[in-house]
Amino acid sequence: MAFMDKIVINGGNRLTGKIDISGAKNAALAIVPAAILTKEICRIENLPDISDVSIMLKILNTLGAHVRMINRNTVEIDARNVQFYTVPYEQTKHLRASYYFIGALLGRFGKAHVAMPGGCNFGGVRPIDQHVKGFESLGAKVSIEENAIVNAEADTLFGSAIYLDTVSVGATINIMLAAVRAKGLTVIENAAKEPHIVDLANFLNSMGADVRGAGTDVIKIHGVEEMHGCSYSIIPDQIEAGTYMVAAAAAGGDVLINNVIPKHMESITAKLIECGIEVEEFDDSILIKSDHRPTRCNIKTMPHPGFPTDMQPQMAVLLSIAEGTSIINESVWDSRFRYVEQLAHMGACIKVDGKIAVIEGVEHLKGAPVKADDLRAGAAMIIAGLVASGTTEVENVVYIDRGYEDIVGKLAGVGADIRRVRITDPESRIQIS
Ligand code: UD1
Repeated sequence: MAFMDKIVINGGNRLTGKIDISGAKNAALAIVPAAILTKEICRIENLPDISDVSIMLKILNTLGAHVRMINRNTVEIDARNVQFYTVPYEQTKHLRASYYFIGALLGRFGKAHVAMPGGCNFGGVRPIDQHVKGFESLGAKVSIEENAIVNAEADTLFGSAIYLDTVSVGATINIMLAAVRAKGLTVIENAAKEPHIVDLANFLNSMGADVRGAGTDVIKIHGVEEMHGCSYSIIPDQIEAGTYMVAAAAAGGDVLINNVIPKHMESITAKLIECGIEVEEFDDSILIKSDHRPTRCNIKTMPHPGFPTDMQPQMAVLLSIAEGTSIINESVWDSRFRYVEQLAHMGACIKVDGKIAVIEGVEHLKGAPVKADDLRAGAAMIIAGLVASGTTEVENVVYIDRGYEDIVGKLAGVGADIRRVRITDPESRIQIS
């Protein structure tokens, strides 16, 4: 039903105050399945309350793990009794990260039967060849059935040297999950360096694994026979923080983005400064001050520490109202500009040619009914709504729920005129919730 919900924004308010950042979605989505690797209890704190995490917890539950929510952001996972190795498409179709159950089940039991994952549509295919290459290199037999179930099995996993042909966050994580229980040394070369890779490594090490080098492009893993329970707090979400930084920059105002790791934000901070936004860094917070029209800049998305592709749509909104012409080069995904059509309804002037978008800054956006094409596109629509004159209604809120904990409450808390509207009858009746 949430699919029917809308977020309604009356734009034009300056944003002032403080926004607290939740735990990192993409770290949580790797850490939750990693709890399978031990028979003891893992307590995970600062877990973001988002639908992607709920789905991962449900999958754990179906596999036979006991999942106990201690409060909104803390869970205890007891995977002692996990006895199934199959995750059907009904469960994997909702999100990409469901494929981390392949690595985790393979690591603990030497077998996994997991349907191909769903996830955001960035145009073109989202291959898993590097995951498969990694599992095979560890000694697993991997086959993909006609009905798209990935079967991975091994009597014993053996550490090995794996060079990734492309820098892949998902493949790096999946290989780490399997390799922590392999015999001997695994070396992942050309590994992804995202903050959530480091967070997963820290979580695994606090379970007794021996993972070194996470955050560099060579990760070394000495396999261990047993892993144990732990208590762990997830890092703040880089992309959620970046989204609110850009929202404050675009809408104008004075907003303290609280509970962040400023080092993780460097590529975003640098671009905002280039656009003439005032950014002040503290130990665990960043202050954004913006009171005039931003200036243009160019962006090329890259694996970490480059500018994150998951911030590209939000940044495009800022550049839509910037002075001058900006160019975005999307180098991670084949086509991640579907949202441009929605922004055009609001008066943005963007031309897309393949992986390049040319944005002619306009002075104003105007409110319109738009839809979220995917998670980050949805966040971009909300930022556009904050900036635009008049009312913007964002449909397909279900995508936004996947990755933002209480986005409406957080933005309303800094003065945005934003509310969620629950549509109980698609024909006409509207309920405000
Ligand atoms: C993760 C993020 C996603 C983000 C992306 C890039 C999660 C749950 N999702 O996705 O939000 O946009 O990182 O930062 O963390 N590739 C291959 N073969 C493979 C795997 C990937 O060719 O086996 C390619 C992809 O097509 C893409 C590039 O590598 O062009 C990066 O993909 P990858 O880093 O794997 O992204 P995800 O882990 O799926």
